[in-house]
This record gives sequence, C-alpha cells and structure tokens, in this order.
Amino acid sequence: DYQLPLAGRTVTISAGGTREPLDPVRFLGNRSSGKQGVALALAARDAGATVRLLAAHMEVPPPAGVEVVRVETALQLREAALAAAADSDVVIMSAAVADFRPAEVSDTKIKKRDDSADPVITLVRNPDILHELVERRNAGDAGPASQLIVGFAAETGDSDGDVLAYAEAKLRRKGCDLLVVNHVGTDKVFGQDTNAVVILARSGSEPQEAAGSKADVSAAIINRISYELNHVLP
Ligand code: C5P
Repeated sequence: DYQLPLAGRTVTISAGGTREPLDPVRFLGNRSSGKQGVALALAARDAGATVRLLAAHMEVPPPAGVEVVRVETALQLREAALAAAADSDVVIMSAAVADFRPAEVSDTKIKKRDDSADPVITLVRNPDILHELVERRNAGDAGPASQLIVGFAAETGDSDGDVLAYAEAKLRRKGCDLLVVNHVGTDKVFGQDTNAVVILARSGSEPQEAAGSKADVSAAIINRISYELNHVLP
C-alpha cells in the first residue's frame, strides 16, 4: 500500500508577522508576507498531514484544506502554539515573531499635542515561543515525546560561512530539531516568491541546501521532516 509520508500526522505551522499594538490604530510590525508558511502548509497538506495554520498578519490567503487560527500578537501566537503543540507531531515556527512589544498599550489613540514632549515608546521582550516549545517538549509537558520542532532563522553575514556559524549557534541555543536558515542581505527574502535555504539538523547530519520557489523549498523541508519522523526519531 502506498502511504503519503505525513499520513496520520498533525502538523502545526505558524506563518506571517506578528503585530504589536501601541494603541487602537497603531502597531509595530514587520515585513513577513506569510508566503513561506503558507507554502509549507500546502506541502504538508499534500503530504497527507492534518495541518493547523497559526496565521499572524499575512499578505496571502491561507490555503484550502487546513485549519486556520488567526492571531495578531506574539503573546496570542504563544497561546495558540502551546495549545496546538499538545497534539502535534510537528511544529514549524515560520512566523516572524516580534522580539519586543510596547510595554503599554493605550486604550485610546495617542494624540499629538503641541505642548507635550516627543513621545517615547518603551519596549519589553516577548517570550521566545520556539525555545519554550522545545523546553516543554523536553520536559514531557506538551505533545508527543517524539514531537519534531522546526525553527527558522534569517541571518546576515559577510559570507555563507559566517551565516552557518551563527545558525549553528542558534540551533544549539534554541534546541530545535531542524533549523531552516536564510542568508538575508545578499538575497532578499521577504515578500519574494523564491528562497534559498540551508537546513541544519540537531542530530548533526550534513547541512542540506534547498533553493527555488517557496513551493520547491517547502517540498524539500517537508521531505526532510518526513524523513526525520519516519527514519530518525523512532
Ligand atoms: O532568534 P530568532 O528570532 O532569529 O529566531 C527565529 C526563530 O524563532 C523562528 O522560528 C521564529 O518563529 C522563532 N521565534 C519565536 N519567538 C520569538 C522570536 C522568534 O518562536 N519571540
């Protein structure tokens, strides 16, 4: 019998960019389009998985045939990700999560007044959701013990060697099983339809390169995830 590689698996994917409100009309955001996360959701769906898409702000519609949970802020994404992880075989954090949020959110629109000094925005750190998912998985508090957790990293550097070194340090720091690394700066990634990545594995196997459309890159990432689940983890 032919079985799709992710048949019977539940895959949670975060996509897009969080928006951190300042007041009812303003926010701090980022340039993530959500295209890579949506392409991953499609590839996982087509590989037979039950897919849950945790959608922050995206410029593209979510694909058909996946469950969509809308979120706005990093804290909302954290709640949704921790809940979804409870029954997910795979969690892929492809969302661009704001590292900081305004310390205070005004209930009313912040006004400009001629008599007042220039406003100052104080920021506080957001939790690192990826790191928290790994810690909970490792502590046996969330999801299957064999849960595979995948992070993304957009790194700048003068050379591919620099970028790989930074990314390897990040892989160890975050503790995720796979880290998908973009070298940004030379290739622009945000909002584009193509991408070039290196997939690093905690297991220490050779870095794997994938390039092409975001669909091609997603297919390579999903293949690698299937391989890890079906051959490396058990
Ligand atoms: O540390 P850095 O932001 O480069 O890590 C990127 C990875 O960590 C991505 O997978 C992103 O979704 C995730 N992340 C997170 N929570 C944050 C910041 C990033 O889960 N607060």
